[in-house]
Amino acid sequence: MTDSLNAISPAGRVSGKVVFISGAAQGMGASHARVLASEGAKVVIGDLQESAAESLAIEINESEGRTAAASVRLDVTDLESWQLAIETSVTAFGRLDVLVNNAGIYTPGSVLDAEVDDWHRTIDIDLTGTFYGMKVATAELKEQSTASIINISSIAGLVGFKHRAAYAAAKWGVQGLTKTSALDLGEYGIRVNSIHPGSVSTPLTAGLKRGLGQVPAGRAAEVEEISSLVLYLASDEARFVNGAAIAIDGGETAGNNLRADS
Ligand SMILES: NC(=O)c1ccc[n+]([C@@H]2O[C@H](COP(=O)([O-])OP(=O)(O)OC[C@H]3O[C@@H](n4cnc5c(N)ncnc54)[C@H](O)[C@@H]3O)[C@@H](O)[C@H]2O)c1
Repeated sequence: MTDSLNAISPAGRVSGKVVFISGAAQGMGASHARVLASEGAKVVIGDLQESAAESLAIEINESEGRTAAASVRLDVTDLESWQLAIETSVTAFGRLDVLVNNAGIYTPGSVLDAEVDDWHRTIDIDLTGTFYGMKVATAELKEQSTASIINISSIAGLVGFKHRAAYAAAKWGVQGLTKTSALDLGEYGIRVNSIHPGSVSTPLTAGLKRGLGQVPAGRAAEVEEISSLVLYLASDEARFVNGAAIAIDGGETAGNNLRADS
């Protein structure tokens, strides 16, 4: 195949698919956008950070040598904003095959000392934002014979997480919403899975002092390591994977790593 033909119809594991990613202006979401585009997808970067999202779309288009990315302003806590964002994506690229609900924040605190405002903000962005995204995108995803929703939870949505009451509640909520929706949306050919990363090096975690003693891998993940799983779940290679909650944490939640006898 010539280079120019490649530019029109790139080969790749998600070739021809249109993927919407929330919170993709930086961090893990930006990596997912780059990796999915490099495997043939068209990606839409939705984020509150409009200019960073736009710069990333330009960077991806330049590096892919085709119109592989677009950006749109999105506030995941606002249903109308979701409606506009998905509408804009379908207008730009003609269809929607995959939704990655990635936007998220964390706030500190146990039930004793968490701020009530932080609780509401965390639930609004991490859980309600995911619900809104699924609610709006599902109408478009149903139009395809196969589609995939990938919800980014956390290991805080698999086990208890000290001093993260709101975050853990939201991320467990994401897991429950995922499994329930896998049952509800299966008849429409839509697979719904959740990803549960452990510690990943991103702007979100840059200021945190994180103990990695519980992690057999002994390190945090690089963003691309999480993107590999997103790529798999977005692709038809994962056509029988539905309702799964997949830990990607270097073994952190495999068991108690700190109680070895000496
Ligand atoms: N970094 C980690 O160690 C880690 C571990 C497990 C899970 N996660 C989850 O992965 C996801 C991405 O995390 P990250 O580390 O890349 O974070 P990040 O802070 O680097 O990026 C999050 C993005 O979400 C956007 N965002 C925030 N609020 C938004 C809103 N209301 N509407 C639209 N966009 C909004 C931000 O502008 C930002 O671009 C989050 O859901 C996070 O909870 C992260």
